[in-house]
Amino acid sequence: MAGKIVVLTGAGISAESGLGTFRDEGGLWAQHRIEDVATPEGFARDPALVHRFYNARRIQAAEALPNAAHEALARLQRDWPGEVVIVTQNVDGLHEKAGATAIHMHGELSSALCYRCGHRWPSPPEMAPGEPCPACHARAGRPDIVWFGEMPYHMDEIADHLQTCDLFASIGTSGQVYPAAGFVQEAAYAGARTIELNLSDSEISRAFEDHRVGPASRVVPQWVAELLA
Ligand code: APR
Repeated sequence: MAGKIVVLTGAGISAESGLGTFRDEGGLWAQHRIEDVATPEGFARDPALVHRFYNARRIQAAEALPNAAHEALARLQRDWPGEVVIVTQNVDGLHEKAGATAIHMHGELSSALCYRCGHRWPSPPEMAPGEPCPACHARAGRPDIVWFGEMPYHMDEIADHLQTCDLFASIGTSGQVYPAAGFVQEAAYAGARTIELNLSDSEISRAFEDHRVGPASRVVPQWVAELLA
C-alpha cells in the first residue's frame, strides 16, 4: 500500500561517510564544549572559535560522499508510489549529494545567515568574524546552523507531515535532542507505524514498534528494498 513516509535522519546515517557523530565515543561533543561552539552565547563570546569549528566541518562535509544509506533513501523518494519526506538534523548536505531532497531542521553548513536582517546566502568555504551580509552589509554573518537554545526550522511544515504520515522511520539519531526526539510520539498519535534503524538501541527505542539494528549502510538499503518489493 502506498502512503506517506516520513524519515528522520541524524548523524549516524553519515558516520560511514567519515563524518563523526556527536555523542558516540570520541564524538564531536567529547572534543568540543557545546556551550562554546553551538550556542548563540558562545558565538557572541568567541566568534573566531565558532567559525573555526564550522569551517573545519564545512571542509569535511564538502569532501564527504554519500553512502549506501543516503543512496537508498534517494531511491525510495524516487520510486515509492506515495510521498517520501526526509527530515534531517544533519547539516552536511549528503542527502542532496545522493539526489534526494530533505527538510533541514538544524540548518546547513553550505548556508550563511545574517543575524541582523535574517538574509541567507551560500556560505564561503571559510567564514571569519565580521563576515559581511550581501543584503544589509552589516558585518553580521554567522553559520546558518540552529544552535542550542534556538528554534529549529520548518517546524510547522514538519508537524503537518507527521500528522498525515502512514509510516515514520528514524535513522541514526540518538533521541537525545528535542523536538526531533518527540517526532515518533507525534507520528504514533496520528496513527502511523514507526520503525527505528540504528547501530544500537537509542534513548527512545521503546517508543518504536519495529527496529532494525546495524550500520545504516546495511540496514537502510535492506529496509528500502523490502518497501519497494
Ligand atoms: N549506522 C546507524 N546508526 C549509527 C551509526 C551507523 N553507522 N553510527 C552511529 N549511529 C547512531 C548512534 O547509535 C547514535 O544513536 O547514530 C546516533 C548518533 O547520535 P548523536 O551523535 O547524538 O547524533 P544526532 O542524534 O544526530 O544528534 C542530534 O544534536 O548536537 C546536536 O544539532 C546536533 O543535529 C544534532 C542533534
